[in-house]
Amino acid sequence: MGREFNKLFDQWSHSYDNTVSGNDPEYEAVFLHYDDILSKVAEKASGTVVEFGVGTGNLTEKLLKNGLNVYGMEPSEGMRKIAMKKLPEAKVLDGDFLDFPSIPVQIDTFVSTYAFHHLTEEEKGTAIQKYSLLLKEGGRIIFGDTVFATEEAKSEVIKDSKRKKFNRLAEDLEREYYTTIPVLQDLFNQNGFSVSFTKLNPFVWIIDAKKL
Ligand SMILES: C[S@@+](CC[C@H](N)C(=O)[O-])C[C@H]1O[C@@H](n2cnc3c(N)ncnc32)[C@H](O)[C@@H]1O
Repeated sequence: MGREFNKLFDQWSHSYDNTVSGNDPEYEAVFLHYDDILSKVAEKASGTVVEFGVGTGNLTEKLLKNGLNVYGMEPSEGMRKIAMKKLPEAKVLDGDFLDFPSIPVQIDTFVSTYAFHHLTEEEKGTAIQKYSLLLKEGGRIIFGDTVFATEEAKSEVIKDSKRKKFNRLAEDLEREYYTTIPVLQDLFNQNGFSVSFTKLNPFVWIIDAKKL
């Protein structure tokens, strides 16, 4: 588990930057304000940062521009190749949310955009517990991802996608592990974090958790 979407992302890697530019009508609302969402996540990060699901390196680039010490983890070889070509100075390693090379210095922030939904609920809990052990008090987890306020809201969005004949989007929402705010709130609280959620487009929220 954890790497079950590698093949899909190897295939998507070549057209991914085109999708996030809003050129795919099915995903337009998902990637609305994409650049701004990544900038907001990058602004909240500090010090030594571990980034998960680097993709083509768009968030990594912003973190590096902000002068941060970034260790990027990306399980898809296709995505890693593109990120390393775009950002030859970046450290982009073969790793994922649950299994990643050990970092030789204290980690201050874990970040990710558009990726945490690849973990099942149980895996999300395991990941948050792991980060809790690696962070000091005040350390942060800043994730931007599709989350729903409630299960009912999620069902409504899936129904609406089907009505619009956005079949790829509807399948994606049903296949991957999109969760709700109450579930995430519990997982973070159980593992010693305070957490806040801010909605940035019809799908994506910024999840900002601080280790107590
Ligand atoms: C939708 S892309 C997001 C890329 C980039 N973060 C962005 O915001 O544009 C999702 C990325 O998460 C990666 N991914 C999938 N499963 C993962 C896992 N278990 N751990 C870490 N990354 C994963 C994919 O390979 C892909 O590069």
